[in-house]
Amino acid sequence: MNVLVTGGNGQLGNSLRIAAAEMAGAPGVQGSPAAQRPRTEDNPAFNFLFSDVNEASEESVAMLRKLGGEGVDTSTTRLDITDLEAIRALVREHHIDAIVNCAAFTNVDAAESQPELAELLNAKAPENLAVAMRESGGLLVHVSTDYVFGAEPYNTPCREDQQGTPTGVYGLTKLHGEQAVRRVGCRHVIIRTAWLYSEFGKNFVRTMLHLTATRPQLKVVFDQVGTPTYAGDLASAILTILKAAASPAGGPELFFVQSLEKPIPAPTSTTPAHAADAAGSTILSEIPDQIGDDRISGIYHFSNEGVCSWYDFAKAIAEMADQVGHDAGFTPGSGTSVTPGSNYVMPGSDRTFHSACAIQPCHSDEFPSPVRRPAYSVLDKTRIKATFGLSIPYWTDSLRRCLASLV
Ligand SMILES: NC(=O)c1ccc[n+]([C@@H]2O[C@H](COP(=O)([O-])OP(=O)(O)OC[C@H]3O[C@@H](n4cnc5c(N)ncnc54)[C@H](OP(=O)(O)O)[C@@H]3O)[C@@H](O)[C@H]2O)c1
Repeated sequence: MNVLVTGGNGQLGNSLRIAAAEMAGAPGVQGSPAAQRPRTEDNPAFNFLFSDVNEASEESVAMLRKLGGEGVDTSTTRLDITDLEAIRALVREHHIDAIVNCAAFTNVDAAESQPELAELLNAKAPENLAVAMRESGGLLVHVSTDYVFGAEPYNTPCREDQQGTPTGVYGLTKLHGEQAVRRVGCRHVIIRTAWLYSEFGKNFVRTMLHLTATRPQLKVVFDQVGTPTYAGDLASAILTILKAAASPAGGPELFFVQSLEKPIPAPTSTTPAHAADAAGSTILSEIPDQIGDDRISGIYHFSNEGVCSWYDFAKAIAEMADQVGHDAGFTPGSGTSVTPGSNYVMPGSDRTFHSACAIQPCHSDEFPSPVRRPAYSVLDKTRIKATFGLSIPYWTDSLRRCLASLV
């Protein structure tokens, strides 16, 4: 299966590079690759083409090498996904069977002052990718966001079929992107995720590592609750979905029963796999995404397991970073790590331990912002787990793994 990854230099795109190298058993890649297994229907061959609108930063390439050794693909094919003809040409030239769209306008605040650009990148560009996949019969895996739920005062985990009213331009344009992909009608898997972080780029974990290492105290909001998502886990889930799509049987029924405590009805030829939930009810059946006999297409939710506030997240980052650094044998403040933002590399700083920074809870209104953030952003992941047999790590376990890579 030939897979085009767009936005390949972003957080998720880079995490897919690592996951793809692990799957291929590339030498030097950390983790325990499923790798050396022979190519079978269960373990099909994949060729990835990583693309982006710009070159990768030197920092990202260095991190890729650190995590993936020589086996990881650091090359970037230039592709602007606002250009439909360029997408078509690349799909033809490389016989692309699936696109994973990791590209987006992701700066939530900046989207407020650049709504046209946000709409172009978050709605029109995914439509282009969907058109290209409809024309070639391929699959589009498109990544969306919890921000499509925005204003609703939910206090139980949001399911895929719940209605959302985005409060800002970012959420609204991402919702338009979902609608465009579904309207075009290619085979599609839309994955809404939330609170994404990784070893790459700008994200909450890296920001907290820096701030807690350099400031004596910090306030973090406790009235916004959600679930962090380690991009490495999302990348692994996407590979599982691609494998399911590549399997001759169409995938999901292979995984359907084994992952659930309660037995659920197997899909029939007229019932999309995602129409049944763990209780066997039809709550998820209102989204008519099935394309022909395809049993994968639809909207899914993915984050890590568990729930926390941003304040809890910040506290966990600071405490775990100390522990991970200590376990790795660093002397606090010795400056031996190569990771920007770690307390171990802040020459001249008098902060030696992250936990020396006093982190205090505060309300959101202490941080004026052009966009009201969702107060409750917990996603219900029943469908993606049931359909693809996924087992998703608890958020602190994944955070520890990410920090171990950053230290
Ligand atoms: N970050 C989060 O907390 C979060 C939460 C929920 C959902 N999501 C969704 O998850 C997905 C991945 O997010 P991420 O954090 O990995 O994003 P990211 O790090 O911001 O990466 C996005 C990538 O897209 C590229 N890009 C921008 N315009 C492009 C164009 N016209 N053509 C091709 N590529 C283009 C960017 O390049 P430049 O940087 O050079 O512009 C960047 O490399 C997105 O769909 C996002 O909406 C993210």
